[in-house]
Amino acid sequence: MSNLRAEHYPRMSKLRTSTSAVHDQLDKKIMDQSPFASKEHYGLFLRYQYHLMNYVASLYQGDQLALMINNLKSRDRTEQLLADFQDLDMAQPTQIINNAQFNASLHESLGWLYVVEGSKLGAAVLAKEAKKLGLDSAFGARFLSGSGAGRGSHWRQFMQDIESLTLSEQQEQEMLSGAQAAFKFANQLVELSYNQTPNLTTDVA
Ligand code: HEM
Repeated sequence: MSNLRAEHYPRMSKLRTSTSAVHDQLDKKIMDQSPFASKEHYGLFLRYQYHLMNYVASLYQGDQLALMINNLKSRDRTEQLLADFQDLDMAQPTQIINNAQFNASLHESLGWLYVVEGSKLGAAVLAKEAKKLGLDSAFGARFLSGSGAGRGSHWRQFMQDIESLTLSEQQEQEMLSGAQAAFKFANQLVELSYNQTPNLTTDVA
């Protein structure tokens, strides 16, 4: 958002300001795990991303959401993530959370999608760290660099799509609650993922 005038993107601006504290908390929690200290650490970071993408997989398949957000299906980075595990000779993680639990209304889903799509902005920054481990968009860091990572036309299109929706006040409120719920989940997931014992499926509160 920062380099685009907030008055032209009032909804995006609300999404950002209402979640900036939880974002910072999440950013710190992840960085405390030193995700780029070694390939092993990076693998644990990818595992976290996998659990997150896996939980929200249905967002990218939503027919109603696809009418609201352009190129919805192709925004999903799960394929790149799976290819990163292969590059690094790492097994696909065992699922820890049953993604059938994911349950958000259409307008809450917009907020969830904001969080997952917005994470591509941070990913573009993190891709530079991955490069120091010899990983890039062609090997091992496809997820961080893929499908419109950073502030390109994908993100601008997403912002425009959000702004151009006709939403009642209540629907907009649901969207903001969805974004809060997504960050809450992503924060809880750090502990779950980093403490993962194989073959354990957990229910989240
Ligand atoms: C260590 C981990 C992370 C770091 C260092 C980080 C860093 C950043 C940075 C620097 C930006 C702004 C980029 C720019 O202005 O061009 C950003 C944006 C964003 N990040 Fe993160 N991020 C991290 C993890 C995450 C995660 C895991 C999520 C979601 C699950 C997330 C969600 C977002 C969102 C939604 C935005 C967009 C904010 C806006 O509306 O402009 N971030 N992040």
